[in-house]
Amino acid sequence: MHPFLTLEHVKFMLEYISDGVQIVDEKGNLIYCNRNSAMLDDINISDSIGKHITEIYPSLKEEESTLLKVLATKTPIFNREQTYRTYKGKMIATINSTLPILNNGHIEGAIEISRNITPYKELSERYLDLQSMVQGGDTTGRNRATRTDVAVFNFEDIITNHSEFNRVKAVAMKAARTEIPVLIYGETGTGKELLTQAIHNSSKRKNRPFIAQNCAALPSSLLEGILFGTVKGGFTGAVDRKGLFELADSGTLFLDEINSMPQELQAKLLRVLQDGIIRRVGDTKEHRVDVRIIAATNIDPNVAIENGLIRRDLYYRLNTVTLWIPKLSDRKEDIPLLTKFFIDKYNNQLYRNFIGVSEEVMRLFLNYSWEGNVRELEHVIEGAVNFAEGNTIEFMDLPPNLRNYYKLHIEHQIQEPITNHHLPVQGEHFNLNQIVEDAEKRAIEKAYEDSFHNITQTAKVLGIPRQTLQYKLKKYNL
Ligand SMILES: Nc1ncnc2c1ncn2[C@@H]1O[C@H](COP(=O)(O)OP(=O)(O)OP(=O)(O)O)[C@@H](O)[C@H]1O
Ligand SMILES: [Mg+2]
Repeated sequence: MHPFLTLEHVKFMLEYISDGVQIVDEKGNLIYCNRNSAMLDDINISDSIGKHITEIYPSLKEEESTLLKVLATKTPIFNREQTYRTYKGKMIATINSTLPILNNGHIEGAIEISRNITPYKELSERYLDLQSMVQGGDTTGRNRATRTDVAVFNFEDIITNHSEFNRVKAVAMKAARTEIPVLIYGETGTGKELLTQAIHNSSKRKNRPFIAQNCAALPSSLLEGILFGTVKGGFTGAVDRKGLFELADSGTLFLDEINSMPQELQAKLLRVLQDGIIRRVGDTKEHRVDVRIIAATNIDPNVAIENGLIRRDLYYRLNTVTLWIPKLSDRKEDIPLLTKFFIDKYNNQLYRNFIGVSEEVMRLFLNYSWEGNVRELEHVIEGAVNFAEGNTIEFMDLPPNLRNYYKLHIEHQIQEPITNHHLPVQGEHFNLNQIVEDAEKRAIEKAYEDSFHNITQTAKVLGIPRQTLQYKLKKYNL
């Protein structure tokens, strides 16, 4: 230690830091406790010094004490969350780091630094209480007649003409008849939730609960309580709360954006997948649940694993059935089809009579990047059907970002019109698919020639994945 820095200085500093600090000797008797720690735990410093830690905290079991554990193992414990009641009955939640004090390998004591997180705990419990109330039923989760988690979509509602997506749909239909967990990968708005609901609705669990939870929508401390339930939190006086695993018992639980689930929770999820056993947060009892898990990620699972976002062991458990939904710009044949579908849908909803989109609009639709995929297309059409005049959706009825895209990327490439005039979206004679396929075939052919039949290079030039290219080369016999 620096000659200026005496033990008195250190003690002085310990009195003014905002964390609680306790030091015990090698037997577990308290030898130091700062003011914050005493205030937090409702203990009287002079009464407690010299007493064993289990005497100071009568409700603390010996095996639960981090200080005693560190004395026994000589190994530090970092950031361990603890919830306990003081002798005055106050509920406290802390995050502790506990370190052994060693002298030549010989244990002389242990020091524990505790941060008070009670206010955050209170807030999160209040949030859980409110959520239970909003979803109907009492805080145990019973009687949830009004809960919003319902699966409404079926396989017929998934519109596609794309052969790869149709193959994915066929695999999903088969998977629906099994109990195997399913992993779905697709960019935002490609229809992951749609597919999940369809699987649930054609499984034998269709009349049982369907619950969807987005793992990215909640902070991790809340997510654990939501998924696994909690016991007598005590912060808000609420009773035990079932988690979604218990609420989805005998049904399906959809875990969206699984890549945002913290690693420790993924380990707990793996346990449920392996043996169907859950334990509520703060509970010692275990419950058996029968839940079919469908998980989704909007980033490539391989990338997610590489970046440590999805645990490898969990991935191996989930990937028996992996459904990859192609993005909309890779399934151009679906664009006219979905355009018609959404125009019909919003005509019905809004009592309008649109018959289609103009030629220019369809050209834009076919060439646009559709970062938001089908959801973006649906919103564009919904907006136009709401506000456009006449019976055809025109260029001016589209949002500015699409119009700008057209001016920047498409307008100057136009050589010939796609069809005569307004594209009918109703009727049988519509052969835009053919036109699109011809154009696509020509583009691929040219890039393939220019790249001397090198697949990687061709895929790069065209800006499409290798797999997609290989599939298309086969499709067009190139
Ligand atoms: N093939 C399709 N046929 C009909 N409607 C579709 C199709 N794909 C998506 N939709 C519609 O697009 C919207 C988005 O679909 P969904 O919510 O399933 O996407 P998602 O992949 O879960 O997106 P996110 O990753 O953003 O959650 C929904 O309103 C859905 O009805
Ligand atoms: Mg979704």
